[in-house]
Amino acid sequence: MKMKAGCSQLKPVVLILIFNSCLYASCQRTGLQVCKLCSGPVLNGTAVGQFCSVSAGRIEGRCCLSNDNTTDPERIIGLDLSNCSLTHVEDLHEASTALMIDLSLNPIVNLSDTAFQGFMELNYMIVPGDIACPGGNVSWSKVEVKEGNRLCEGQKNTCNQTGQLLQLC
Ligand SMILES: *[C@@H]1O[C@H](CO)[C@@H](O)[C@H](O)[C@H]1NC(C)=O
Ligand SMILES: *[C@@H]1O[C@H](CO)[C@@H](O)[C@H](O)[C@H]1NC(C)=O
Ligand SMILES: *[C@@H]1O[C@H](CO)[C@@H](O)[C@H](O)[C@H]1NC(C)=O
Ligand SMILES: *[C@@H]1O[C@H](CO)[C@@H](O)[C@H](O)[C@H]1NC(C)=O
Ligand SMILES: *[C@@H]1O[C@H](CO)[C@@H](O)[C@H](O)[C@H]1NC(C)=O
Ligand SMILES: *[C@@H]1O[C@H](CO)[C@@H](O)[C@H](O)[C@H]1NC(C)=O
Repeated sequence: MKMKAGCSQLKPVVLILIFNSCLYASCQRTGLQVCKLCSGPVLNGTAVGQFCSVSAGRIEGRCCLSNDNTTDPERIIGLDLSNCSLTHVEDLHEASTALMIDLSLNPIVNLSDTAFQGFMELNYMIVPGDIACPGGNVSWSKVEVKEGNRLCEGQKNTCNQTGQLLQLC
């Protein structure tokens, strides 16, 4: 009696374990919602597309993922949300490891500085020309307007009170 009960109780536990680990695995593979925020893949000629090709990254949807190896797990290094009818930019935390983010060709109304808090490596951003770089000019080494887009290059550490925070201090 005891054995039988033990066995029949074990099965669901094992099944749940398998189910969970499958879910987890598939979550890791395809769970990056931010890459599916806009339709289509990163295009070849775009800034993120070129960056990805130079970095030997892998394109998944609108993301460029770094090469996966044991010392350096796969992560988002580039995000291209250009030409995607975005009016607001909300939760992009999945892309907090990105070095480059392209938000050009979107009717964005305003960009909150907090949306990019903790994006330590972010070093190149393209935003619509009528939008300020997150954190303002003080947060970047170079800001220029080119072909209707604003390029924000070289994130500066603004942990002193002058600028608004882009980095986590
Ligand atoms: C993108 O560009 C690379 C290198 O320039 C080329 O090998 C590849 O075929 C291109 N992909 C597409 C979809 O055009
Ligand atoms: C892992 O990837 C990093 C960054 O792309 C690279 O510098 C490093 O050499 C790679 N290591 C191995 C063992 O391939
Ligand atoms: C933006 O997207 C529209 C529709 O998807 C497309 O027709 C247009 O060529 C795109 N513009 C650019 C500059 O990629
Ligand atoms: C964006 O702008 C709208 C209207 O100007 C304002 O109501 C809203 O609070 C702004 N949002 C952020 C995150 O700044
Ligand atoms: C930020 O820099 C750009 C490009 O140099 C300039 O056009 C813009 O007026 C500056 N904005 C502010 C608020 O200083
Ligand atoms: C704070 O940092 C900004 C940007 O790096 C710099 O321009 C400014 O001079 C700094 N202010 C002080 C008081 O250190």
